[in-house]
Amino acid sequence: MDYLAIEGSNKLSGSVNISGAKNSALPLIALSILAKNDVRFSNLPNVVDVQTLIKILVMLGASSNMADKWEQNNNINIIENPNEAIINTNNITNLKVIYDVVRKMRASILLLGPLLTRFGKCQVSLPGGCAIGARPVDLHIKAMQQMGADIEIKNGYINATATKGLVGNHIIFDKITVTGTENIIMAAALAKGKTIITNAAKEPEIIQLCEILKQSGVEIEGYGSDEISIKGTDRELIDICDISIIPDRIEAGTYLCAGAITNSNITLNNIIPSHIESITDKLKEIGFGFSFSENSISMIPAKSLKAFELITAEYPGFPTDMQAQFMALATQCNGVSVIEERLFENRFMHINELQRLGANITLDGNSAKINGVTKLIAADVMATDLRASSALILASLVADGESIIHRIYHLDRGYEQIEQKFSNLGVKIRRGRD
Ligand code: UD1
Repeated sequence: MDYLAIEGSNKLSGSVNISGAKNSALPLIALSILAKNDVRFSNLPNVVDVQTLIKILVMLGASSNMADKWEQNNNINIIENPNEAIINTNNITNLKVIYDVVRKMRASILLLGPLLTRFGKCQVSLPGGCAIGARPVDLHIKAMQQMGADIEIKNGYINATATKGLVGNHIIFDKITVTGTENIIMAAALAKGKTIITNAAKEPEIIQLCEILKQSGVEIEGYGSDEISIKGTDRELIDICDISIIPDRIEAGTYLCAGAITNSNITLNNIIPSHIESITDKLKEIGFGFSFSENSISMIPAKSLKAFELITAEYPGFPTDMQAQFMALATQCNGVSVIEERLFENRFMHINELQRLGANITLDGNSAKINGVTKLIAADVMATDLRASSALILASLVADGESIIHRIYHLDRGYEQIEQKFSNLGVKIRRGRD
């Protein structure tokens, strides 16, 4: 398995280009199931989760120039135009998404809505548990049932049928769910009649999905608020417009934290400032300054780093996907920082690993107290999930000596060219194999 070796105590400098957002790419790839045309993607992040989802579509019978390229070349890092893809789903015949692929990537649940609404039936494996908590999909299932689906859970599979297609309804989510909202938006796009989603998620990735549908001719309103309404096409496939994936706000936030933990002056290009506002606001509270231009941001180092408090919440609140990175940063702030995780009950796996590097953190329920100005010392640590792994990179940047981060396949799921990007910022980083 691959590992990353990182030399600590570096100041960073220079700039980094932010890739397209994985969490926007995934629902938009799933959306191609509703297309009558070839769907063209640009600014697609070349990360394992994106490749996995395209490969799943190909297993179902779709075709993609990207999958052909991977077939011809084992090393995905050297394929031509890795950020552009064309997907055609006209020939999908296999409607079973098997456990082996869902277990690798929970987001494959995003295929449930599109497959069911287009074909009137499908089987999608239940995702099961994951490192950050139970993460059930009950809200997705309940909403599909309200739209007329007959759903049976058997042998670990969601067996869904709606022979005459799905029918629009008023869906009220008990809890805000990002992929749940996306699944229902896509299901509703081909349903009969109008669907209203109340308590919808408002993330920028939801907005991009809705904007693409609107540009493709679907009547959809209210996105960005907590109520979205969609008029379905009654199973008529959609001519989906070209898609350029929005920048990844979590990747941007991670590099900002790299600048912050080393108190360096770095620039990020290809960002949307409003999407990272909760992150830059928190960094301002800690003591950093920023200068913005239209799509880039430069960080001005802090005189000293103040301890902080944060609570994770749905967008536009502070993202849970940035919680681990801020915990690494808190180890270098003056005073005691408090981080409360409100979205996922078990998203603290990084604490043990940060402690191996010398961090002083205590956990009480869903609230972590981090004693700052701790001297971190390099160690062997293990990545446990995608964002926890990036927190370990950040801590390694200031740990004395060379840290080794094992099991970095988690990072490859969501960060494009991670070692090249850190290396461009002046970090001594190398990839090796156990
Ligand atoms: C998405 C993101 C993930 C991010 C998360 C929260 C993608 C591919 N993933 O995950 O990076 O961390 O949003 O911002 O976009 N829940 C239920 N029942 C359900 C669905 C969700 O109880 O049917 C709960 C979850 O356990 C969690 C909360 O709702 O406590 C929010 O989860 P959700 O927004 O659904 O997360 P994902 O869409 O899986």
